[in-house]
Amino acid sequence: MEAVTIYLSIYFCLLFLLVLIRFINKLWWNPIWTQSQMRSQGIKGPSYKFIHGNTKEIINMTNEIMSSPMELTHQIFPRVYPHVYSWIKLYGTNFLMWNGLQPQLVVAEPDLIKEILNDKDRAHPKREPTNFIKKFLGDGLVTTQGEKWFKQRKLANHAFHVETLKSMIPDMIASVEMMLERWRDYEGKEIDAYKEFKVLTSEIISRTAFGSSYLEGENIFNMLTKLAFFISKNEYKVRIPLIGKLVKTRDDTESDKVEQDIRDSVIKIVENREKNVITGEVASYGDDLLGALMMAYHDVDETTASVLSWTVLLLATHNDWQDKARKEVQELFGQQSPNADNISRLYPPAFHILRKVQKEVKLGKFIVPGNLDITIPVIAVHHDPQIWGEDAHLFKPERFAEGVAKATNNNVAAFIPFGLGPRTCVGLNYAITEAKIALSMILQRYKFTPSPTYVHSPVAIITINPQHGLQVLVHRL
Ligand code: HEM
Repeated sequence: MEAVTIYLSIYFCLLFLLVLIRFINKLWWNPIWTQSQMRSQGIKGPSYKFIHGNTKEIINMTNEIMSSPMELTHQIFPRVYPHVYSWIKLYGTNFLMWNGLQPQLVVAEPDLIKEILNDKDRAHPKREPTNFIKKFLGDGLVTTQGEKWFKQRKLANHAFHVETLKSMIPDMIASVEMMLERWRDYEGKEIDAYKEFKVLTSEIISRTAFGSSYLEGENIFNMLTKLAFFISKNEYKVRIPLIGKLVKTRDDTESDKVEQDIRDSVIKIVENREKNVITGEVASYGDDLLGALMMAYHDVDETTASVLSWTVLLLATHNDWQDKARKEVQELFGQQSPNADNISRLYPPAFHILRKVQKEVKLGKFIVPGNLDITIPVIAVHHDPQIWGEDAHLFKPERFAEGVAKATNNNVAAFIPFGLGPRTCVGLNYAITEAKIALSMILQRYKFTPSPTYVHSPVAIITINPQHGLQVLVHRL
């Protein structure tokens, strides 16, 4: 009996020791080793702090900068990504930082960005989405990999084909007309353009993705907005290994509920369609996006609403460009409208692109160890004075007068609002068509100026948005 007790004690001691070694390895040795590996190659960065990494510094910097509004300039990089801005200045274009225990290599050098996003050797897959992001994006095109992604992408390319897009234009026009009808009550007064564009883009995506079921679609997109809030709130919250998996926070439970509601709504739409096809009420599953794709969730309405909002601000504060844009629209009568390039340079809705390194890999002249996240800070590249000159933060659409290639000196990774390589945004043409239609129709009818109540406060919540809305005065032409 005594021998059994001794054996059991030894067993538990060994087990405890093993768990302790694993913990020390994960929480201390691994980070220190990775850090020294990168430093020996010249990649520096803020030092790893036990368990928290650099999250406390990140949260403090963000809270401090967001506690006061900024002047109405387009120098927004230090505000929306304060830690990346400070650390690029301190450590160089590429540096290593820590989201808790997870090392993140921040890469803002265009040559390396090109290598990562083109991903010829499939060495830089998409990052494993966090629990909250998984709920938001689902197991869809944005997050899948390999064969599954390939199949979904083929379907999506088909769903966003030029001919399919053409058939969506009447829906887009009808939605803009509805919005402009609402504006009639506000002529000479203030509107919140951001709120208006969120309603507009969610209406358009609901009509085009959910067709006849667009009211249910709108409900789904409202729930997605709730999930987006949980993602940004929890981005830098560190969870202790093991315990974090076992204990659910309030946000976990609430977002589980929203996720379930979204699933139920989508299933209801799909079941209704199946029922209608079986009973012969309709002949097919529908020719809208949902019918073709049962599409992956993406922050589709947020991104275009963001582009439209910042375009309106830039044109409201640069009357000369607003007049030029209107003249172009009037001359071409809506066939073409101002080029959105310069807007998505200064205010790129997708302000960063995320990848990872699974196994040790060569990147440029560096050897990058496995299990490392890669963050490409798009906004840093778009505001880089070395690429765009000392006036990088100024609104100067003439930069693009001779095309993007000329503006970037043929540097394809210098301007990447829609990404680059095989995982480039599949909705690019959809988003541009939608933005051009909305902008042309607004410019044809209204002149707009900033409202005295507008407070300039761009904030990064999944996309870059105006924190307190975007108030402009609209004057009928
Ligand atoms: C101004 C609006 C938009 C911007 C700036 C934007 C930006 C981006 C970027 C940067 C990526 C690449 C992400 C990466 O490489 O990790 C991406 C991917 C994607 N976007 Fe967009 N997007 C916009 C609108 C849309 C719209 C309207 C749709 C669909 C209706 C859409 C659907 C997608 C999908 C499905 C992917 C994933 C593609 C893949 O991984 O194969 N996007 N978007």
